[in-house]
Formats: sequence, C-alpha cells, structure tokens
Amino acid sequence: MSEKILVTSALPYANGPIHLGHLAGAYLPADIFVRYHRLAGDDIVYICGSDEHGVPIMLRARKEGVSPQEIVDRYHAIIKKSFEQFGMSFDFYGRTSSPVHYETSQAIFRKMAARGEFNLKKEKQLYDPRAKIFLADRFVRGTCPKCGYEDAYGDQCEKCGTSLSPADLINPRSAITNATPEMRETTHWYLALERYQQELEAWIDSRKGWKSNVLGQIKSWFSDGLRDRAVTRDLPWGVPVPEDVAREAGVDAEGKVLYVWFDAPIGYISATREWAAEQGDPERWKKYWQQQDTRLIHFIGKDNIVFHCLIFPAVLKAHGDFVLPENVPANEFLNLEGDKLSTSRDYAVWLHDYLEKFEADSLRYCLASIMPETKDADFSWKDFQARHNNELADILGNFLNRTLTFAHRYFDGKVPAAATRDAQDEALIRRLKEAPDKLGALIDGHQYKNYVREVMDLARGANKYFNDKAPWKTRKEAPDVCATTIHYCLQTAYALSVLFDPLLPFTGKKIRGQLNRPEDFSWADAAELSMKEGHSLNPPEIVFKKIEDNLIAGEIKRLQKNKNSTSSQEEEESLPEITLDDFKKLDLRTARIVKAERVPKTDKLMKIELDVGGESRTIVSGIAEQYEPGELEGRDIIIIANLKPVKLRGIESRGMLLSAEKDGRLSLLTPYARNTVRQ
Ligand code: 2FM
Ligand code: ZN
Repeated sequence: MSEKILVTSALPYANGPIHLGHLAGAYLPADIFVRYHRLAGDDIVYICGSDEHGVPIMLRARKEGVSPQEIVDRYHAIIKKSFEQFGMSFDFYGRTSSPVHYETSQAIFRKMAARGEFNLKKEKQLYDPRAKIFLADRFVRGTCPKCGYEDAYGDQCEKCGTSLSPADLINPRSAITNATPEMRETTHWYLALERYQQELEAWIDSRKGWKSNVLGQIKSWFSDGLRDRAVTRDLPWGVPVPEDVAREAGVDAEGKVLYVWFDAPIGYISATREWAAEQGDPERWKKYWQQQDTRLIHFIGKDNIVFHCLIFPAVLKAHGDFVLPENVPANEFLNLEGDKLSTSRDYAVWLHDYLEKFEADSLRYCLASIMPETKDADFSWKDFQARHNNELADILGNFLNRTLTFAHRYFDGKVPAAATRDAQDEALIRRLKEAPDKLGALIDGHQYKNYVREVMDLARGANKYFNDKAPWKTRKEAPDVCATTIHYCLQTAYALSVLFDPLLPFTGKKIRGQLNRPEDFSWADAAELSMKEGHSLNPPEIVFKKIEDNLIAGEIKRLQKNKNSTSSQEEEESLPEITLDDFKKLDLRTARIVKAERVPKTDKLMKIELDVGGESRTIVSGIAEQYEPGELEGRDIIIIANLKPVKLRGIESRGMLLSAEKDGRLSLLTPYARNTVRQ
C-alpha cells in the first residue's frame, strides 16, 4: 500500500558554500531514501531550503560591508546550484526570508503565546554600544579567569576548556567591534520546555528504530533535566516578534526577533506551504503536516539533534496541530584525511570545487559507502579514488561495458533470445527477483552503507556470472548458451540501473539510455526481466573513466597545506575599528616588481626586489604558496613603505605588500590609474 511520507533535510545556513561533510550528513541519505520511495510508488514530498537568519550571517555581512540580504541571496543561489548538481531531488527548496515563512513562523509563535506556552523573563545581557546589538555569548571575548588566556570566548575558554559565562570574563570585549560591552536589561520569551519533559520522554520511548547515537544524546539531555529556552533575541536580522503579541505582554517589540532555532525548523512547514501553492493546491500541505498517518522524517547532522528531537517536537506539541517525526536518523560527523573539517582554514572539500574535476555520482557513491551512520567517519582522497576505480569502474562499469559491447558485436545490438536456463542462470535470476525487497528494506531502515554494499555485490555477482559463463567461448561451441548468457546480462544491467538509481541517479539514467529504456520505471521493474527479445540497444559508452593518480595527488596537496595553516582570524570575526589618524600613519606607495625569487628552504617566503619611484628596496613576503616568481616580475603593486624593517631568514625586509582576500584566496592589490585625464 502506498505510504504518505514527508522528508526534510536540515536547512543549511546561507552564509557559505557547502562541503562534503554537509552532503554526507543530512542530504545524501535523505535523497537516497526519497528516490527509493518515489520509485516504490509512495506519496512522498521532500523539503529543504536555506536557513537565512542567525548571527553568523549578520557577522559575515558586517565583515564584507554588505547587507545580510545580500549575503543570503548570494549563498542561497550557490547552495541551491550545488544541490542540483549533486542530484538532490527536493520537491521544494525554500528560504526562511520568504514572506510565507515570516507569516507561518509568526502565526505559530502567536498561537503558542495565546496558549500560554511561553514564560517571559527579564534578564541582563551584554550589549555592544558600537554595533548596537546585544551580544550572544560566543561574541564576547576576554581574559579567562581560570588560566589567564586573553582570547577566551564568552561561553568557553578554548585554552583550558573551562565553560564560562560572559560575566566571568576579565576585560570583556565585543568580538565584533572590540568595544567594551555594557550590561543592559532586556525581556525575552522562553519556551516552557521544562513542563514537557515527561511527555517528551514518553514520546521518545514510543519511537521505533531510532539510532543509538541519537537516543544516547537525547537521554543525556533528559538526565540533565530540560530547561526553559529563550526563543527570542535582540537582533536587527530575523523574523520580527509579532507586535500584537509583544503589546499584549507589555514589551516593546522593537529590535526583537524570533531566535533562529525557533524559526528555522518552522521553515520546513512554510516551504511545504509554498510547494503546495506551486502545485496549484494551497491547502495540500496540511495533508502532510496535519494528518497523523504521515511518516515525517528529519535528516540532520548530530549537532542538530536536540533541536529536532526535543525542542521542535515540543513546539509541534505545544502548537497542537502537527504530526511529530517518526524518526530523526541523524548522522555523526565526517572528517577529512584524519582531521576535523574547518571552513575557516579552508580545510574542506567544497562541492563546487569538486565538480570541476569529478563526477557527482562518484562522490555520492563514496560518501554513502562510508556514511557516518553511527560514528564519525573519515573521507580520504585515496579511498575515494580506490572506490571509484575498483568498484564503480572495475565492477559496475566493466560489467555494463562488456555486456553491451558483446551484444553489439555478436548480436547486432539487440537483446538475444534466452534458451533453456541452467543453474547459474537460475541463481542470477533469483538474486534479481529478491533484490528490490531486500535493498528497499535496507534503505527504508536507514541502513545506507548496507544498501551500497549489497547493490555493489549484485554487480560483482553479475561480473562473476559473465566470467563463469565465458560467452566468448560458448559463442562458437554453444550459441544458444551464449545468447542466454547475454540475455540475462542485459536483464541484470537494466535491474542494476534501477537498483542503483537512488544512489547514482546520473549513472542510472545513462545506463538506461544505453539500454534504450524510458525513464518512467518503478522499483519493482528491477525484478521483471523486462528487456524484450529483439529490443534494440544504443551504442555502449564507458560510464566511469578511471581517476588518475595526479588528480588525487593535487587534492591531497591542497589539503595538506591548509591542514597546517592556522587561520589568523576566525571566519566570523573582523578586526577592531581604527581611526582615520591610524590609517594616515601608513605611507602607501606604488612600486614595480623587478625580480622575485623563493627564499630557499621555506614554503611561503618570496624575496621581492622593487623599484619604488626610482629607489630600490627588498621586501620578503609570505606569498610563495599563492604566486610563482615569474608571474610577479614587471607587475605594479602597492606597498606600505614605512613599516619598521625586519630581518627574515637573514634578509632585511623593508615594507609590506598589500593584499586582501578574494574568493578565499590571497589577492595582491594593484594600482589602477586612468591613462587619460578626465575632462
Ligand atoms: O546547523 C545548521 O546548519 C542549521 N542551519 C540547521 C537548521 S535545520 C532546521 F531546523 F532548519
Ligand atoms: Zn582558560
């Protein structure tokens, strides 16, 4: 019987592009699940979108000197495109800055306020008078009272690990402007979570098939005891607290917004509403969110567990009208070459970079094979290459290619007729018949790694069948047997195109193209042996080309460089303000690079001889990883001429080259002067 399923993937923050850690956590498993259920004929809707609120977005905007809207517009487009290129088959990809989302989240907040689900609390909080915002704990820096480290965060000292509150810091300062924060009084709405503990515990107990890593985290929240949670913030960016609710409570709504973690999951509901409207049936979203027979499944990473397993369910319960999740199959984290991913150090594999060199399906395959289902996993380029070359190319690709090539060479590019089956044929057919149910159950049970292993094993078995049956021998000795072998190889090729489809959608389509089969097919078709005798095939093409060592070596080298670099600034931070007088102290001059050479035995240093208005001078600069000496010579640049001279590797450096970051890379500043005088 067809099931009604609503699937969501965590809404990514629109403050940067996405990397493979994101993909492996919340998107790829969901997409496999959704693609399978669609093929199985279920009524399934897959929702995602950009999470466009929150402090990091504001900070990024501030750092770049643009509006938060400009930031989210930019990254929403980039993220959406990456998802499309990786085949994420959302029915709707929304954004939390949409009017429908504002309306939906405000309506939910309003209803909860009316039902008495919030407690109002007055509190004192640090305020940055220069940026004119209240500071989240993470954005207060100062000296750790325990160990004296001068750069401790308001919630934790990274040096000694002590957990802190901003008031504990000595000499606190705003991480945004460096201003000394002031204590100010403010009022906030708190979700009365404490009173939901029992109900949530009973609800979690009633869930079936939840992963142990997820339950483990939830249990520890319960044993600490749930506490009320603030669901509003004083910030200039976010969904405004509805004025009527604030008025009723006697609070000034000015400058108050819903906390990003209150509005973001509601984004799932608003995006479903927008999807329904797009379908021309605006009420249709209710069928998924408000009827209790929906299987609601949230795919997320482990850092989102508390929000999806406790807080959002509490909101849904408190509101009263919605279904609660059947399961939240959160994944653990993916590391990279044995180290944690770090966006600030650019220690990551960005999806848009990846696609410049490799195919989407290769990464889908590799990530699903190593998916961090119950514990952290590690991605390495060598493993990626091995899986692509030894499994996708040598097993699946090889089987398809030899089957189709044989059919073209000896059977006129048509499906030959099968004659009497022998035991090997029967065994292969049995496997094909059993495969859809078996693989479907693994996917439905969120056992993605097992599904990948089993489906590749089927291809392995098919290859073995081809070898064992040796059609190149039977072609002359027993033509009927040869025809039967190729017949069942073609049936298997088609079955593989279906059974791999949730995992390798681009490849599935390519295979069906070569088999000359249409795209309207179902999961059960894999067992139907539906390649008809005499059916014409299209010419074979290699589906997976081998990945060469040099491509992989280049990727490893890039990561190694970033692994050892320490980001001078956390990405979110900006430098403190300076005055015009500070700036005027700099003697900026244009200069021409006469000669550049690497400083021996260093990776980064370049010795640069300059002509500065007729005077020669030498500067040693740390740009040797980004530039080649040859490309620098003859260029005009800008230098700070009055920097105190220093000796680097025995060379006196007098001044500094000006550079800035562009698209994550170092970029030398060059002078631009019009060569004609404006009239
Ligand atoms: O962790 C994150 O990237 C969040 N933006 C996830 C939000 S999930 C949902 F609640 F929207
Ligand atoms: Zn400390």
